[in-house]
Amino acid sequence: MIDQNMKQAVLDSFEKSFSKKDGVKAYFAPGRVNLIGEHTDYNGGHVFPCALTIGTYGAAAKRDDRMVHFYSCNQDRFGVYGINLDEEIKPTPEAGWANYPIGVIWAFEKRGMKLDKGFDLVINGNIPNGSGLSSSASLEVLTGFILRDLYGFEVSNQDLALIGQYSENNFNGCNCGIMDQFAVAMGKEDNAIFLDTADLSYEYAPIKLEGAKIVIANTNKKHKLTDSQYNARRSMCEEALAILQKTVDIKGLGDLSVEEFEAHKDVLTDPDMQKKAKHAVYENQRTIEAVKSLKDGDLAHFGELMRQSHESLRDDYDVTGVELDTLAEEAWKIPGVIGSRMTGGGFGGCTVSIVKDEAVENFKKTVGENYLKKIGYEATFYTVEIGNGPEVI
Ligand code: GLA
Repeated sequence: MIDQNMKQAVLDSFEKSFSKKDGVKAYFAPGRVNLIGEHTDYNGGHVFPCALTIGTYGAAAKRDDRMVHFYSCNQDRFGVYGINLDEEIKPTPEAGWANYPIGVIWAFEKRGMKLDKGFDLVINGNIPNGSGLSSSASLEVLTGFILRDLYGFEVSNQDLALIGQYSENNFNGCNCGIMDQFAVAMGKEDNAIFLDTADLSYEYAPIKLEGAKIVIANTNKKHKLTDSQYNARRSMCEEALAILQKTVDIKGLGDLSVEEFEAHKDVLTDPDMQKKAKHAVYENQRTIEAVKSLKDGDLAHFGELMRQSHESLRDDYDVTGVELDTLAEEAWKIPGVIGSRMTGGGFGGCTVSIVKDEAVENFKKTVGENYLKKIGYEATFYTVEIGNGPEVI
């Protein structure tokens, strides 16, 4: 579902910024929401995200010289930022948001896909910034998709996901897993993606929510320390894995069943580390169970697993915080809420809830009021649809 106003705005802005409109093409890449399977993707576990119909719009055209120019309608204060392809490509503070597309160009070049000429790029997104709905992965995949289209590089959508992740890990310094870029690059309308991050095998699962909607609630929390905390969680899981590998033959925490974990967990003598590993193992098993219950048409059990997921992220993995806890805990009290949990990296960002049609208004009103009372500022609610991966529009 392409928003024609967003498309027009990005094309108008391109014309204004670069005084050119012939040969300009418009593109879109979605954001994503993860239904269940959190902090499992860097542990060789399963995830269950879907692409959204909100995302990042782009307008781009090749240039005759070796300059690449970037302008974001959402980050006007950066103005137009440019790089010269004949100079070393590296992250800089002045580039701001443009470090994401620049990182993707860098990653393409590392893979031997060199740009002969530069290009101009304008973007305009409708994913709320810092909301945990993958505005950065959306921008990375959008950039990769545009490079493929403009330069004719032979890369699959799955490669676009891997390149996006590589650039985020090695250029932008966040050690993220593959979930976000994969969900963005491989999105399919009305389907979630059941992805095994151990080997990237995946299947689409139709989300037929008869009589219910997916509602996202944004904490609007301003100060997040996501990257450093995220990287710290990841390192702790890696340490736990190394210790467990001395007694069990596994490649990732996702290889362990709950029973195997319980039988071996005492080798993790640091109680905090044991809790983090427990989350990774249990959450992976919950995700597998959740997808099965969806296939069996047992949405109520899916909802119960969403709740367990949030509780584990709150109590064991420690990535929620009072804002996300308030949204989820208030949601659980509302009749007609099938399930609710934090989604994405945590420490702020959003919750995702499955809410019966007739309960949506009351859900937004009551959770919204109680959130404001407790936290002191408002949450924002969006009823979302599951959309496709990147496309020329
Ligand atoms: C962020 C990362 C993902 C994933 C989630 C947590 O969104 O980018 O790779 O680890 O957090 O599930």
